[in-house]
Parts: sequence; C-alpha cells; structure tokens
Amino acid sequence: MKRIGILTSGGDSPGMNAAIRAISRYAIYHGLKVMGIEEGYKGLMEGNIIDISISTVGGIIDRGGTVLKSARSEEFKTEAGLEKALKILRIFDIDGLVVIGGDGSLKGARELNKRGFPVVGVPATIDNDMKYTDHTIGFDTVLNTIEDAVSKIRDTTESHGRISIVEVMGRNSGQIALRSGIAGGADCILVPEIKPDIKDMCKKLIKAKNRGKKHSIIIFAEGVRGLTPYTLGEQITEVTGIETRITILGHLQRGGSPSAFDRIIASRFGAEAAKILIQGESNKAVGIKGNKIINVELDKNIELGNEIDLELLELGDILSI
Ligand code: F6P
Repeated sequence: MKRIGILTSGGDSPGMNAAIRAISRYAIYHGLKVMGIEEGYKGLMEGNIIDISISTVGGIIDRGGTVLKSARSEEFKTEAGLEKALKILRIFDIDGLVVIGGDGSLKGARELNKRGFPVVGVPATIDNDMKYTDHTIGFDTVLNTIEDAVSKIRDTTESHGRISIVEVMGRNSGQIALRSGIAGGADCILVPEIKPDIKDMCKKLIKAKNRGKKHSIIIFAEGVRGLTPYTLGEQITEVTGIETRITILGHLQRGGSPSAFDRIIASRFGAEAAKILIQGESNKAVGIKGNKIINVELDKNIELGNEIDLELLELGDILSI
C-alpha cells in the first residue's frame, strides 16, 4: 500500500474534516502518499483528484462541512459507473480508498471492495442510523445544534403560551428526534418507528394546560408517516384550543463546527481506517462500541436501522408529565 485515496460522500456531517485530517496525517506519518477525491463518487468517476499534504489538512479540524465536497450519485450505483470509478483509481495509482459517509456511501464502498479494490469505510452521518456502531460522526454535533435552536424556540413559545412543533432531520430514523427530544425536555417526541397517538398527545397537552402550563415543545422527526407538522398542529389546536407554530430546522442542522466528541471519534476512526489499509487489510468499516474502536466486515454489517430505544422514549414521556 503506497498511495491511498479519501472521499466524502452523501449528506455531509460535522466532523468529516476531522476524519480527513486524521486519515491523511496518520497515513503520511507512516510513509504513504494521500490523494483527496473531490465530490464523492461523482468526482471519482470524473477523476477529480488532488494531492493531500500535511498542510492541506491543517486548520480544518474545527470546520463543518467537508473540504473534499460531497455529492450523491445515481450513476455510481450502476455497473458502468463502478467500472469507471475503478478505472480512475488504477490510472491514478491509488492502492486503497477510505470512504467517509453514511450507509449509502459505505454500500458503494462495499461494491468497490467486492470488485477487488481495497476499501475501508468511516461512518459519518448526522442520522446515526447504522446498527453496527454506537455513534456516527456528526450525530453529537447535530444534537447540540438542535438544543441551541430549541432553547430559542422555547423562549418565544413560553412568552406566547403556544405549542411549538419542531421538525428535525433523520430521514427514516428517529434517533435524532429521540435524543434531541430528551436533551431538550420536549413534551412529546414523534419518531417514524412508532405510530403517533394524537389522542394521547392531546390529553397530555390539555392536562398541562389545566395545571397552568400553556406552552409545550413537540419534536417531530421528518420521517414520520401519514402526518406533517402542519396537519398535526391543526389537529392539536382544534382539540386543545392552543395556538401552534411550526419550525422546520432543515439544513442548518447539517452545518457548524463539530463538537469535541465528534472531533475525537473522527480522529480515532480516521487513524483506525488508515491503519487497516497500512496493515494490508480492507473490506472493513470502523466504528465505536462502548468506548472501544471496532471494525466490522463491510460486506456483512452495513445495515440501516439502529433500533429505537423504547425505554428512553418512555423516559422522555415520564419526565415531561
Ligand atoms: O442523511 C442525512 C440527511 O441530512 C437526512 O437527515 C436528510 O433526510 C437528508 O440527508 C437530506 O438530504 P439532502 O441534503 O440531499 O436534501
């Protein structure tokens, strides 16, 4: 292994830069050359490749987004797209690749690996929806970003005695909603994994109103089906008589300087990924269980669907009576 490539793919997440820095510096320290592939798999198919030196990755540990840029590519999912990518990797004399991204990106990594190209995956997505690892890079930061927004929303919600419904990201997963709901002391948390019980929710809100608490915060995961924050708001106002306001937090959740936690796991994941390639191994995805850095086989373990912690969901309900 003489020369490795790094790419970031899919939705960006805070901490990707810290991972790029760690992979690069760990590899350079051990005598390897490092190439950065810009704009994910799309850039790989187009040969959008730059040299990375120690200083290229200086001053980026605290920056959100990804200096290598990211993209989602449908073409890469085709046989022709994969062949194009493999050809470029050979032309640029790249011997191994580290892919930083969510489950879709790591599935792409697995396809390259299946075709004989050595790849290691680093899990980075704000969604934290990968079963094999406790944390993905960016999840801790997004929770802090949401907490900051929710505190501000709470100020005005309380002043006006309203109910605020705050929609958070997470695609089909309720991990962001559950954890941000607990941390923000939300009165109700709606996740895609559990069918919402609107009757029960209204009962809780009316009880709160009757004991003098008119304002409430509801955290609503974007993946909830059969309901939108707007239709929920209308139903709540109709039953409780309390005004509702909707905030869709959107892409502000994906930006910002990574938390210390995300910088640390990104540094540890990055070093581990580089180490695996240096040792001549591949077909791995790195992760964390407890506080231990682990690696699993890419072709067996990359599944979506980190199960929702029902006990934690119930605790949120109890603590917000
Ligand atoms: O997977 C990360 C994520 O931010 C999801 O939470 C969200 O559903 C999706 O990406 C949005 O993707 P895009 O930036 O392509 O609109």
